[in-house]
Amino acid sequence: MEYRGYDSAGVAVADQGRVSVAKRAGKLANLEDRIEEIGADKLAGTTAIGHTRWATHGRPVDENAHPHLSYDGKVAIVHNGIIENFAALRAELERDGVELVSETDSEVAAHLMAKAYNEGETAGDFEASALAVVNRLEGAFTLLFLHADHPDRIVAARRSTPLLIGVGDGEMFLGSDVAAFIEYTKEAVELGQDNVVVIDRDGYRILNLDGSEATGRPFTIDWDLEAAEKGGYDSFMMKEINEQPAAVRDTLAGHCQDGRIVLDEQNFSDEFLKSIDQVFVVACGSAYHSGLLAKYAIEHWARVPVQIEVASEFRYRDPVVDARTLVIAISQSGETADTLEAVRHAKSQGAKVLAVCNTNGSQIPRESDGVLYTHAGPEIGVASTKAFLAQVAANYIVGLAVAQAKGTKYPDEIREIWETLEEIPGKIEPLLEAAGQCEEIAHHLGALPTMLFLGRGVGFPVALEGALKLKELAYIHAEGFPAGELKHGPIALIEDDLPVVVIVPSPRGVPQLHSKIVSNIQEIRARGAKTIVIAEEGDTAVEPYANWLIRMPQTSTIMQPLLATVPLQFLAAYIARECGNEDIDKPRNLAKSVTVE
Ligand code: M6R
Repeated sequence: MEYRGYDSAGVAVADQGRVSVAKRAGKLANLEDRIEEIGADKLAGTTAIGHTRWATHGRPVDENAHPHLSYDGKVAIVHNGIIENFAALRAELERDGVELVSETDSEVAAHLMAKAYNEGETAGDFEASALAVVNRLEGAFTLLFLHADHPDRIVAARRSTPLLIGVGDGEMFLGSDVAAFIEYTKEAVELGQDNVVVIDRDGYRILNLDGSEATGRPFTIDWDLEAAEKGGYDSFMMKEINEQPAAVRDTLAGHCQDGRIVLDEQNFSDEFLKSIDQVFVVACGSAYHSGLLAKYAIEHWARVPVQIEVASEFRYRDPVVDARTLVIAISQSGETADTLEAVRHAKSQGAKVLAVCNTNGSQIPRESDGVLYTHAGPEIGVASTKAFLAQVAANYIVGLAVAQAKGTKYPDEIREIWETLEEIPGKIEPLLEAAGQCEEIAHHLGALPTMLFLGRGVGFPVALEGALKLKELAYIHAEGFPAGELKHGPIALIEDDLPVVVIVPSPRGVPQLHSKIVSNIQEIRARGAKTIVIAEEGDTAVEPYANWLIRMPQTSTIMQPLLATVPLQFLAAYIARECGNEDIDKPRNLAKSVTVE
């Protein structure tokens, strides 16, 4: 689970009337060292909880690592999310003489649990105490409680952050993601909002917050362990870049039947799609960049206005959405809190929400009116690669479905676009060979201070994505611009040897666009920049102006991002290594799934 956070890690084991804890700041390897230091036998037992942290409240130091122990040493908790009323709860505990030892919001839950178990109405009752505590918490949380007096069970709760049960034979698991227990069982159960679950080795019981019985949704995990491992590559990211042909192919599979685009969702009938008068896309990071491409595709094919907004901004500015608005929420993890809140806001305004998501059983599809799954498989590297390309492909499926429903494209035109889309996986394959060239370019550039990315039309979101990859992996300042904007300011940044990546549109597309970007390349070269040009095979016009030229197979203009992005992923990974960042799967300060706002 380290990909969800790696600022610190810890475990607690309940056995023979006591709870033992080991925890350490830093990656999991530090925790392993710590366990060796204290002796693994000190952590013997059959009921345990563990946590890898992404710091929200409190620095990434040992004291703030989870699990947190209660004042009497009998309760251990781990927590994902943010307890919004922790300050008031902390003050209350301090008034009662409890000494808090961490800076986290989470620690209050351990002490509240001990108090509920030791005093008053719920005294001696583990489950009732957990319910009482959870009912007092505000915010988003997945909480696991372990109690020294009940070493045969774990009580857990969730609100707005993920928690799944893994059902084994004589053993039970809980995890924020199936990756936590996929090695042991493929049978899982999804919990509802505000559920509490009690597990012991033989089974599970799900409760509502009022203590009444609830039910979960059982499902079988279709990922295998191997898919979640590196498969011979030196990093998950490299493996995932190489899996992109399959990710796009699997995402497209089954969505065109007898020449008709199929969304698989009752709620998104042709009648509804025909009735919409605007589309809103909400997403974050790379998913947002894929959403920018949805705008180009949907407006071009379906002639419906599309607005796109970073999810964290959406609900705070009162956007105009109503029952005739289709909101597309794009998220690899399906757990991104900003996107989830945007979904909730859109629904409260009467809009219908279609999730584009890579993770079965996650929160965003569950709260949306329908879902179009991307089939990229598990993406473990924090930097999104195959999920991004799969999102672009899925967005194009939506664009075609809307065009089909509205009749803005003839069936034969839709078929033709679909055929071009279906050729993309085969065209990504030769681009995977560009890895060596990208490594050489990275080696030549070394640890550079800054880098610019330019594109026009659909090349602009690709430029943004390339810059984001470089920032997050190599910790280098990078910016993406529409090439036409250069002359309005950014050209002042150009100086000798500044590396500039240029994504060149096809000369077979809009010819003016191609010749304009060729002029842009000349302008920056004249000012000393070193150009890394990404252009299609046969485009000879760019050759004189490229310090390095990366070729991609020919395709239609709108499909080009599905190809042009690939070398930018390699470039970012290799430049990161040149900068000494070996662990490209886990860049600093980030987490794969950002479940806080
Ligand atoms: O899981 P999501 O797709 O909702 O995540 C959104 C972003 O946090 C994510 O794309 C992030 O920007 C990636 N680290 C980019 O590589």
